[in-house]
Amino acid sequence: MMVLGIETSCDETAAALVTDQATILSDVVVSQIDVHREFGGVVPELASRKHVEAISVVIDRALVRAGVTVEQIGGIGVTRGPGLIGSLLVGISAAKGMALALNLPLCGVNHLHGHLFAPFLEHSDIDFPFVGLVVSGGHTSLYHVRGPLEIQLVGKTRDDAAGEAFDKVAKLLGLGYPGGPVIEQSSRGVDPGDLRFPRALLDKDDLDFSFSGLKTAVLRQAEETFRIPRRTDAPGSFHPLTTLAGAGLDLDAVRIIAAAFQEAVTEVLVLKAFRAAEKYKTRHLIVSGGVAANRALRDKMELEGQRRGIEPVFPSVERCTDNAAMIAARALTLLHAGMQDDLHFGALSRW
Ligand code: KG4
Ligand code: ZN
Repeated sequence: MMVLGIETSCDETAAALVTDQATILSDVVVSQIDVHREFGGVVPELASRKHVEAISVVIDRALVRAGVTVEQIGGIGVTRGPGLIGSLLVGISAAKGMALALNLPLCGVNHLHGHLFAPFLEHSDIDFPFVGLVVSGGHTSLYHVRGPLEIQLVGKTRDDAAGEAFDKVAKLLGLGYPGGPVIEQSSRGVDPGDLRFPRALLDKDDLDFSFSGLKTAVLRQAEETFRIPRRTDAPGSFHPLTTLAGAGLDLDAVRIIAAAFQEAVTEVLVLKAFRAAEKYKTRHLIVSGGVAANRALRDKMELEGQRRGIEPVFPSVERCTDNAAMIAARALTLLHAGMQDDLHFGALSRW
């Protein structure tokens, strides 16, 4: 069967065609990063509008690149949530329209399960059960997966997601948006020396994460390093330095803070993920989602994997961030398990 996947949960409009053999015939992603960059984050209203403009073109492009016609599609998978409601609705409406017109089975896919199963598109040897860490802009979640439909959430962040922490710290340090890639780049080859930020919840047995204390520690360090008086009048608690972006902060000092931050986040992610893999005695550890594109994280995971005899598996860097191939692949599994949705389902901001 050939499945069309559609993804519009945040700021990427994406469509892909994937077949049963986990063969990706096409995988088109149109990013809105340039639109949101000047606001330092995704503006939901703008995101929905951009999805409306792009969705038909992106689906057409996916068909053309795959060299197929709509009549050859056997099913449709679309991201149902979690995500921005207005954005999700654009993809869902397109998917429902096509499913109705072409009389095709339709599946509403959980975006996080898409990330979780993304490595199956590129690796044929992943065994169940496995532990999966989905680490993205909105989520930091650990799953124990015993089968395609047996997915148990065993740990999650109690406050910020790891990607969100990257984005906020980058904004604070005036490094730009999105935060992950710019922090990774600024940290490359930088030794944070004695600067060590706190790692939360490490000595507990549970598998939850917390990154808001780390974010605040970075803010306090920046205030101290750059001799900036602490502001208490800023709306929210974490943006007082953003006005100083580009105002001549010492770049070497910025890079040291960025590197120490990245070191703290990646160390916690590695520790918790392997703790879960050992607890559930799995041979494979899947690491996926936007933050899994981070080279420092991948290297640390590999190293720890060798030490513990557990194999970390990542999607390729392009498939860590949002894409529709992972949604199509997940829809294939669901459709084969006899699961499909009627045309009445709505978008879910949380799932
Ligand atoms: O999975 P994704 O594309 O969208 C969500 O589902 O959230 O993840 C986006 C997140 C952003 O927070 C971005 O800063 C982060 O992934 N990210 C990275 C890297 N590339 C993207 N974080 C760390 N290092 C990277 N190289
Ligand atoms: Zn995502």
